[in-house]
Amino acid sequence: MYRTHTCGELNIKNVNDRVTISGWIQRIRDKGGMIWIDLRDRYGITQLVFEEGSTSTELILKVKELGREFVIQATGNVIERISKNPNIPTGEIEIKVDTLNILNKSELPPFTIEDNTDGGEELRAKYRYLDLRRNVVKKAMELRHRLAIETRNYLDSIHFIEIETPCLIRSTPEGARDFVVPSRMNPGEFYALPQSPQNFKQLLMIAGYDKYYQIVRCFRDEDLRADRQPEFTQIDCEMSFVEQEDILNTFEGLIKHLFKRVKDVEISSLPRITFADAMKYYGSDKPDIRFGMKFVELNEVVKGKGFKVFDDAETVVGICAAGCSEYSRKQTDELTEFVKKPQVGASGLIYVKYNTDDTLNSSVDKFYNEEELKKWTTAFEAKPGDLMLVLAGPKEKTQKALCELRLEMGNRLGLRKPDVFMPVWVVDFPLLEWDEETKRYYAKHHPFTAPKPEHILLLDNNPGSVHANAYDLVINGVEIGGGSIRIFDRDLQKKMFHVLGFRDEEAEHQFGFLMNAFKFGAPPHGGIAFGFDRLCSLFGGTESIRDYIAFPKNNSGRDMMSDSPSKISEAQLKELNIQIKLQ
Ligand code: AMO
Repeated sequence: MYRTHTCGELNIKNVNDRVTISGWIQRIRDKGGMIWIDLRDRYGITQLVFEEGSTSTELILKVKELGREFVIQATGNVIERISKNPNIPTGEIEIKVDTLNILNKSELPPFTIEDNTDGGEELRAKYRYLDLRRNVVKKAMELRHRLAIETRNYLDSIHFIEIETPCLIRSTPEGARDFVVPSRMNPGEFYALPQSPQNFKQLLMIAGYDKYYQIVRCFRDEDLRADRQPEFTQIDCEMSFVEQEDILNTFEGLIKHLFKRVKDVEISSLPRITFADAMKYYGSDKPDIRFGMKFVELNEVVKGKGFKVFDDAETVVGICAAGCSEYSRKQTDELTEFVKKPQVGASGLIYVKYNTDDTLNSSVDKFYNEEELKKWTTAFEAKPGDLMLVLAGPKEKTQKALCELRLEMGNRLGLRKPDVFMPVWVVDFPLLEWDEETKRYYAKHHPFTAPKPEHILLLDNNPGSVHANAYDLVINGVEIGGGSIRIFDRDLQKKMFHVLGFRDEEAEHQFGFLMNAFKFGAPPHGGIAFGFDRLCSLFGGTESIRDYIAFPKNNSGRDMMSDSPSKISEAQLKELNIQIKLQ
């Protein structure tokens, strides 16, 4: 038997017990005469002690051979420690070892396996199996597991059934590029890895499995960021005989359950905001509603006073930062620099200080006297002590820049508290998005999303104005999930493909199987998918989803550990009938 106990469970009640534990050596302290070893496994750390004189010389010699990360088995009696460590559950005891077995040696690890490791990101990625031994990473894996279990428990309790769908599929357009897999048995033909199981879950509805879910791997060949991986996991769900309201209520339940069970956080309500209002008040379809500072449009108030920047702008819009009127010149200059960064994209920043003595001064004093500026304060509902920050320019660009400035101010003022969770449903998305470059419409969500029934007629003449029965779940400014009510009528789906610029044959070629299935009694249905890795990182409180993936890819989509992707042999290429010609 390798162990009677784990390294995390012995305590003062075990004193005098004879035990055997196994694990990795975290640290050795040799104080001449006394040697202590911290032995680690998944469950914790237990201290081993060896004392020259009372421990046999043979054993002491063996201990002197040990090094960090050796795997050992130790047997001995549990004794009470003289100097206790109140920070760990096993801190009151140690094991006086009399039998030691070296199960395996280890080379010196390239970084310390501690919470505050000396290993840089790249090194840890290369030796991810060592990184995974660290407490912080282990906690992230445990959190992921807990979230998966609680998701399954909840969905099972309301009669959802988990069904697996294939990974080698025909490509489904979801907006990103596909990863493709060549077929040896079908020369010149390729599978795609699913960007999501969208078509399959709809087919499962047609098959009558009216509440489906799957914790499922998805693959998208897109540019990577902190919250995007080329392979990631969704909690993918679909239901039949439902309207948008049913879906929002069902998954509000899931979100509340997860927060309660995993974080002991009560979510009292999930407010809703329309896409139009999200853009108007927050400049983003992913509003962080943990704090106010909503946008105020100033066109009416500021135009026509001879200030060209405002007069020529499509929109003049600002935010009011409470209590910031005493910002120094240096601080306002910093904010100006911030908005001018290429990622933010504004050409400048105008500010008005509403001083605590009720006076007003601004960076545009030349054009606006106090009386005029008073009107601004009314529009902003500003109070003495506030600072108004205003941007002007083309609407979309200015909204985006002000959104960044709002978040920056939220950070500076400590309003984006990591332990506060504010979910919000964003609803009433436009069905379509116009792309200037290709001069065509694209589906804002995906081509299977249903238009609002009252907007169907607009599809012919004014497709851009059609709203969809589509919704996103946003928490603390992160898009955690998205879904829609689906088209279940064959003719409407055909029409949608038309609007998206597919010719009949193309639509038939790509989606024939779905269109065909629609002939055989498709029920009304809809669903949603949550980004599981994003949910983990939200719950865990760090920004990168990589921290919650056991073996993630880096920002160039590489697995640093196995060094993939990699070339394949000539023989493999030949077998696949592939000739590589790099440009
Ligand atoms: P969507 O494309 O919005 O919808 O994806 C759903 C959720 O998946 C997460 N997500 C990602 N997470 C990590 N890395 C990525 N590359 C990545 N891409 C997306 C996001 C997102 O909200 N089939 C539809 C769902 C439906 O209509 O039911 C779909 O996949 O959190």
